[in-house]
Amino acid sequence: MPAYMLGSKKPRIHPTAVLAPNSTIIGDVVIGQRTSIWPGAVIRGDYGYIRVGSDCSIQDNVVVHCSAEDPTIIGDGVTVAHSAVVHACRVGDECLIGVGAIIFDGASIGKHSILGVGSTVLGGARIPPRSVAVGAPAKIIRRATDKDVRLIKESYRAYVEMGRRYAKSDTYKKPIVLGG
Ligand SMILES: CC(C)(COP(=O)(O)OP(=O)(O)OC[C@H]1O[C@@H](n2cnc3c(N)ncnc32)[C@H](O)[C@@H]1OP(=O)(O)O)[C@@H](O)C(=O)NCCC(=O)NCCS
Repeated sequence: MPAYMLGSKKPRIHPTAVLAPNSTIIGDVVIGQRTSIWPGAVIRGDYGYIRVGSDCSIQDNVVVHCSAEDPTIIGDGVTVAHSAVVHACRVGDECLIGVGAIIFDGASIGKHSILGVGSTVLGGARIPPRSVAVGAPAKIIRRATDKDVRLIKESYRAYVEMGRRYAKSDTYKKPIVLGG
């Protein structure tokens, strides 16, 4: 199990969550039902605390950290795509955080929003619910449509299914021995 205590702070991980063995979870962290944590992801609850809801995917090489001032709170059904950085901030339910995006201290992203690939939400910025925001610094380009919201839901559900597939096939419990 890739989870570590820090002093008395022990990660609380729902038994249905699916964790890659080379992901790292430390300290004051809660992970909800069916959430999947993918290879190389780091979730470090040391300065403060981190809460990740149900049905999220925290994908490969994502970094989630917090500060002493601002915890990180990620809602339910959130897709955090590959290599994103989610730092001491809040992400509402059913958002899609694009590949390589950055959200910095004290920022918040409202429910049903999409943050574009490689986009940066500056510290303290507020992205209201149902926004599509892109660029660095991220600007809102439009309101999320019903189609966008459907896409967000499909994205998180696909990852719940993918996590289930990994768990069912015991993938992480049976590494193959190359050349063996
Ligand atoms: C944000 C996003 C949804 C916008 O899609 P869209 O509404 O179809 O937008 P368009 O492609 O029509 O682009 C609209 C404008 O925004 C700009 N834009 C789009 N995405 C951008 C991004 N990530 N960064 C900077 N600008 C971006 C386009 O260049 C275009 O600018 P213009 O009007 O000056 O020409 C999409 O670009 C995106 O980043 N999706 C996230 C994908 C992802 O990471 N999925 C996770 C996989 S696990």
